[in-house]
Parts: sequence; C-alpha cells; structure tokens
Amino acid sequence: MNSHRMTRREFLRSAGIGATFLFGQPLWLGRVSLSSNPSALSLDKEPIEPDAEISIIARDTTMQILPGAPTRVYTYEGKLLSGAGVTVDSIPGSYLGPILRAQSGKKIRIVFRNNLIEKSVIHPHGFRVPPECDGSPTQAISPGETKLYEFQVVDRAGPYWFHPHPMGRTAEQVLMGMAGLFHVWDPEEERAIPGASTGANDVPMVIQDRTFDRNNQILYQPNMMYGYLGNRILVNGKPDATFALEPRAYRLRLLNGSNARTYKLAWSNNMALRVIGTDGGLLSEPVSKNYVMLMPGERIDVWADFAALAGKSVTLRSLAFDPGGMGMMSGGMGGRGMMGGGMSGTGMMGSTMGIGAPFDILTVNVGTHATSTPVLGLPPALGMRYTVNNVPNYNSPRPFTLEMGHMMTWTINGRVYDMMAVADDEKVTRDEPIAWEWINNSPIPHPMHIHNVQFKVVQRTPPAYSASYGTISDGLVDSGWKDTVLVWPGERVKIAMTFTHYTGMYMYHCHILEHEDMTMMRNLMIVAPTMPTMPGM
Ligand code: C2O
Ligand code: CU
Ligand code: CU
Repeated sequence: MNSHRMTRREFLRSAGIGATFLFGQPLWLGRVSLSSNPSALSLDKEPIEPDAEISIIARDTTMQILPGAPTRVYTYEGKLLSGAGVTVDSIPGSYLGPILRAQSGKKIRIVFRNNLIEKSVIHPHGFRVPPECDGSPTQAISPGETKLYEFQVVDRAGPYWFHPHPMGRTAEQVLMGMAGLFHVWDPEEERAIPGASTGANDVPMVIQDRTFDRNNQILYQPNMMYGYLGNRILVNGKPDATFALEPRAYRLRLLNGSNARTYKLAWSNNMALRVIGTDGGLLSEPVSKNYVMLMPGERIDVWADFAALAGKSVTLRSLAFDPGGMGMMSGGMGGRGMMGGGMSGTGMMGSTMGIGAPFDILTVNVGTHATSTPVLGLPPALGMRYTVNNVPNYNSPRPFTLEMGHMMTWTINGRVYDMMAVADDEKVTRDEPIAWEWINNSPIPHPMHIHNVQFKVVQRTPPAYSASYGTISDGLVDSGWKDTVLVWPGERVKIAMTFTHYTGMYMYHCHILEHEDMTMMRNLMIVAPTMPTMPGM
C-alpha cells in the first residue's frame, strides 16, 4: 500500500464518520460499528446476530451404497440448531451432505466440527463471504476442532454448494462423500418461478462418478492427466438412479459434483434441455440446448416438463465427446473401461470410463397422472443483463495462461500453488470491474473457478486447430452468471466481473480436484479501492 494513501482502516480511524454511507459497507458484519463518538469506532469483528444457526459435522462412517458390504464414506451431517428462514434437509440414505436452503439476506452461523481423522475445512462455493469464511487451506481445522462461519447471504438466488478445501486433500475428501447443496432463493426468483421459495418443484440432482472395489469400498486411483474418473455414475449418492416424477413440469437442479469428469448432458428422447439458470442463478431468459456441457463445480437449472411422457421413461445421458488436445480420442469414443487410463500409463485401463465416453446418468419414470398441480411455467425473462461498457481493461484483459509443465505439473501463468504468495496480477480492487482471460495452452479442458465472485463470460476465442471443439461448443451456456467456466484446449475465454463487499485473501483454481490439489490453484487478493486524500494529509 502506497504510504501516501490510506487503507480503509486508517481512513476510518482518522475520519470516524459514516462508513456505511460512504462505502456501502454492510453493517451486519459488525466490522464497523458506527458511533457518534469517533474514538468508540470499533473495527474489530463482532459476532453477528444470526437469523439461523446450523451445525455441520464431518463424519467418517459407513453407508449402504451397493448391495452387500457397506461403504466407508466421509459425510457432512447437518442440523438446524435454531432460527428461521433457513432449512436443512438430508437426503435419506445418502452420503451427500445436507441440502441447505436460505433466503437471500439471511445471516447465518455455521458451526463446523471436524470429526474426521484428518484436517478439513468447508468452502462455500459460489458465495461472497468474508475471507475468514472462505475456507481456504490455511483455515483447515484438526480432528476434534470447530470452526465458526458467520456471514450474511448477500448473493442472489442460485444453486450454490459447499465442499472441503484442505491442502492437498480436497479431491479425496470430496470423493469420500463430502459435498452439499446450498440453494438460495429471493423474491425475484419467486416472481419468476412460483414456489421457488419452498423448493416444492425442485429436484436436486448431484452427479458424481465413483469406482468401487470388490469390497464395495471407494477406490481412489486418479488418472495422472485427467484426474479421477470413476467407472459408474451416482446421482445424489445412489447408483442406477431413478426418479419417480409426475407428468408435469419440474425444476431440475443439477450439480456436477464429480472430481474430474465432464458431462455432455442430453435427454434420451431428444427433447431439448431448457436451461433456466447457471451457477449464479436464473438466466435473463431460458435457452434451449440439444446438449449441455457440465464440468466439475458447474451447475445448471433445467426446466423439464414431463406432461407429454405420462407412463413413460426418459433417461438423462452423457453423450460421447472428443476431449480434444491429445488427439487420442478422435474416432470412436471407446466404451466403458477403455480410455481413461490410457494416456498416463498408470495401468488403470479397465477401472475407468474414458473422459469422453457415453453413458446413462439417471432415469425419470413418469407417472400416469399428476396428483398435485402446481403451475410451473417456463420462467419469463428476468430482464437482467450485464453490460461490459464500464470494464476499464475490457480490451486488454488480464491473461491467465493454463499450462502443463514437467511431470504433469499444472500451472497458471507459470505458477503453482503457494499458501502465502500472491502476485501482482492476482490482486484485484474491490468494486472495480475487471476482465480476465483464461488462455488454455494445455492439452486438456479445465473448469476455471474463482472464489467470492460471479462473473460473465463475455467472449470465447475458439481453438484454431481443434476438431474436438465442435463436439462440445453447442453445449456451452454462457448467458448467465458463472463462478466456474469450461476452457477448452487451445481456447481463450474472456470473463468480466466485479469483486464486491469484501477485501482479503481468496483463491482461484481449476475445479478438477486433482488439478487443484496438484498445484493448479493460486491466491487472489481483493484490495480496497484507493481512498481519496484527506484534507491536511
Ligand atoms: Cu468449489 Cu475453491 O472451490
Ligand atoms: Cu469455490
Ligand atoms: Cu485443470
């Protein structure tokens, strides 16, 4: 910090005046207590008065997933301790963590207790939260310890989620079962989708892939290149998932909670996927897609009307695609147990489905008649559009180059993860619109994720040399708010965003969890805008 400028803290100290009015700093955080007496101005964090208090316990336990022996899993056990405006539901018989629902604006306290035999920490994915609630690896707590999260939900309605983020152990902890949905609703969403506030028409669908050994235990043998590719699909923690739904419309809330697997989603009867929302909530208007690409960490909301399918079934599939770059996958996509291990020579052929292999994800069995008749129309246009007019560096976005170095070291701008380091081009100014550009110079796709912000994809420059791009490009949904975005080999993806509310240390990384654990992650520092010079300084 330039010594002639003041930090916000120094400014507040010397000014002792209406911080909230000047900076829009939310008072609920208790970070700034206004007082008519400047000397009583408190800048230390004070406990918030939560609307609801939730307990989340990480447990090492077993669960019946397959017939026969139970499977050892890690799971988040959630419970509403007190308060209102927030619900905590569990998925019966599933290792998946609780589904939290909260109205935007609610102040939440989460008491996280780590009952594992290793360190862990929860990261609220997609949310803007104070830095101490972001759950970076530096915040991991030891077995038996408790960490408090206190924040107000400042984000709009959307399908957020949470998962572990400890140093080098994120991939395996998520694989063992730790992840949960955190759906936020608000009046805008309720206007667009009647019933949104209760989730009455929601069907959460968390898609993951797992390989089990002969004793029904989750087998962790990641592919050196692509990360972990399991040989079977679980939805909401269940294999061979079927959903008994009525012949009416639903809102399917899909999360790709897989470590590394990308899905090319399509309906088996070729009906269009009507996408109404992305990572950061509802689109300004629905889009129709023959298929949708969903990389790890990404979410879509799909409006699906089964009225014409009374008494029938329909399957949600992942279609074959060419993952590009390596040149090894063109032509036939191979079947189950074929391709995934081929590249790395780690001898896993037969234990994985290849990265672009086709398979079924879930089946919807549609009943013969609807017993309830909520009118769930396709949401109307919300009229929310993002303009990039005022992004100062729009024409010269900050480049972030993705590369694979020696020994499959994944790098961003040539750097690897370092708990403490943050480079100059990893500092952003709060409240200032900024454009970044992901430049994928590596041979495989990466889902690039930034903490504490929702961004807009403003431009894609397709790879010059890639035939594979055409097998996936129609499945990109770029019109909504995103916190994780697919970047194809050879592709450049320009995004625009504004970091708001908080300053401090956050992160950005590839959401292939093995890449994240293997260094493809960096710190990101949000700094306060420069303060005006005070008279007399
Ligand atoms: Cu869901 Cu830092 O990630
Ligand atoms: Cu995140
Ligand atoms: Cu990656």
